[in-house]
Amino acid sequence: MALQSPIMNLMVAAARKAARGLVRDFGEVEQLQVSKKGVSDFVTTADLKAEKTLVAELNKARPGYGFLLEEGGVRAGTDPHFRWIVDPLDGTLNFMHGIPHFAISIGLERDGEIVAGVIYQPVGDEMFLAEKGQGAWLNNRRLRVSARRLPEESLFATGIPFKDRPGHDEFLAQCRAVMAVSAGIRRQGSAALDLAYVAAGRYEGYWETRIHAWDMAAGILLVREAGGFVTDLAGGSTMLESGDIVAANQQMHPILLDLLAKAKP
Ligand code: IPD
Ligand code: CA
Ligand code: CA
Repeated sequence: MALQSPIMNLMVAAARKAARGLVRDFGEVEQLQVSKKGVSDFVTTADLKAEKTLVAELNKARPGYGFLLEEGGVRAGTDPHFRWIVDPLDGTLNFMHGIPHFAISIGLERDGEIVAGVIYQPVGDEMFLAEKGQGAWLNNRRLRVSARRLPEESLFATGIPFKDRPGHDEFLAQCRAVMAVSAGIRRQGSAALDLAYVAAGRYEGYWETRIHAWDMAAGILLVREAGGFVTDLAGGSTMLESGDIVAANQQMHPILLDLLAKAKP
């Protein structure tokens, strides 16, 4: 393991432990011959179990830290400086459909700044790590964002708003703008992994709107520590509050921001 600090060891161990349960449950989902409702209840339980394991492990080692949990909401800690931001299962819809593209995401915030992040994709055993000032890593390999400079050679990732979520027309305009100049767009279904893939140089860039702090906390640090840029849609830093995020390598970030700014429904 490249990053050996106690905090990284703790986050990695917690992610691995919670992942064992998720992988077992994923095996079950693939076998389940139950109603649609049955699968979704089963997945909700898997999700809650993973979150419980993560909270127990992190809390055991750092009892004073607070939490922002996707399932459990805000849990205040006695230490006002530190807070864990946790998504126990990012890519739930994939998980539910037997698609092995999902992850656990743990970010650690100190005084409002993300200082450590882990995104673990258990099926492929990909452990993405970052600690502020220490770089980003995938298993034992140092990560660097992609060096591609031309939009027409670039692959972008995004998320599509669904059902009654707002922003459908806005998204279609953004997609139209990006697809017209790029090599392609992917929607793989896990914001955390989309960000990890930008850090790993697999995508040149990623954008999504109206997501949550737990989808992106760890990923923001990964991209930055890999040499990439992360902002909101206006080029500012309100990602965690606004839910809007644009992450890319140095060359593509201003281009992507500009395309999105000009995209009007
Ligand atoms: C979702 C995924 C997806 C994104 C959605 C998120 P979940 O998280 O990250 O890629 O497009 O907006 O809600 O529900 O699978 O934890
Ligand atoms: Ca989730
Ligand atoms: Ca999520």
